[in-house]
Amino acid sequence: MAMARSVDVVIRPFRNDDLAIANRIISLAFGTFLKVPEPATFIGDANYAMPRFRTDPTSIFVAELDGSFVGSNFASHWGSVAFFGPLTIHPDHWNKGIGQKLIAPVVELFDSWGATHTGLFTFPHSPKHIALYQKFGFWPRYLACFLAKPIEGVKPFPKSCVRFSELAPAKQADALKQCLELTDAIYNGLDLRTRVQAAYDQRLGDTVLVFESGKLDGFALCYFGAGTEAGSQQCLIKFAAANTAKHFDMLLDGCEALASALGAPRLAGAVSTARHEAYCHMLSRGHKMTMQNIAMHRPNVEGYHRAGVYVVDDWW
Ligand SMILES: CC(C)(COP(=O)(O)OP(=O)(O)OC[C@H]1O[C@@H](n2cnc3c(N)ncnc32)[C@H](O)[C@@H]1OP(=O)(O)O)[C@@H](O)C(=O)NCCC(=O)NCCS
Repeated sequence: MAMARSVDVVIRPFRNDDLAIANRIISLAFGTFLKVPEPATFIGDANYAMPRFRTDPTSIFVAELDGSFVGSNFASHWGSVAFFGPLTIHPDHWNKGIGQKLIAPVVELFDSWGATHTGLFTFPHSPKHIALYQKFGFWPRYLACFLAKPIEGVKPFPKSCVRFSELAPAKQADALKQCLELTDAIYNGLDLRTRVQAAYDQRLGDTVLVFESGKLDGFALCYFGAGTEAGSQQCLIKFAAANTAKHFDMLLDGCEALASALGAPRLAGAVSTARHEAYCHMLSRGHKMTMQNIAMHRPNVEGYHRAGVYVVDDWW
């Protein structure tokens, strides 16, 4: 029997008064899909909606059914790289065609941004998810593995590392410029500057910077705390990049020291198995896999997910 399809869905921009319900539905939808005992509290004190809304309210879309909020989708861009998620629909309204209505405007937005590499993370075991995204030209590539390591005891801050928050404004401006140079060399136009600045402005965590060779050799944008995407149970590396294996190692030392200074019980981050050296490097440092996703790319090309690239990135 064919499922009833919803025809009365309105897609509209996100508003301030959507913040609480959006975060509730994100938790409920993921918790229900993953069959956890209490889906409504699945994401704990993490918050996806608030920091994204403060950073860029125009890149979030809402689905309304009969005047009620039933789902949302968040688009992000790091310069030429754009991704979407979390995309969530209230479980009472799955399989009515609403999710698709929230993907179409995001794809249009990616194109209006001129993004050259776009994608998302999803669940590799779900035929529905893979088929849904393929309809929009996103194709499954490599696993993106979330790895975590417990942080025990006090970890000293390595000499080669500094925290962005501790730099004077002129040095921060110079560090941001060098962040762009570093990522642009990895993938043309990849740019995390607004995210590093937003983390500082909104106190979402901090960015660890490695200066070993006289210039910036690596940086890691980390979130931590209630009200951030990470929540208070982990320090989350949202994005990290380093020039060499040696600098990647220094950067991860710096991230562990930051997690310890912030009082986070563990350090977490996602790495593509396409970036084989980075993946093996994290495993060799004692990071253990907590969840595997699959990255889907539009177009179906590697972008910066290739051997020899020392990047950690979370596309949720
Ligand atoms: C994933 C999610 C956003 C999709 O939203 P939705 O409104 O249920 O999805 P839609 O009804 O728009 O589309 C589902 C499509 O998958 C198809 N589908 C379902 N099961 C399928 C299967 N086993 N194989 C192939 N296609 C399948 C449906 O037929 C439909 O496509 P169609 O319109 O061409 O028939 C929603 O289910 C959700 O919130 N899930 C929990 C949170 C989550 O997983 N978010 C996404 C993380 S990447």
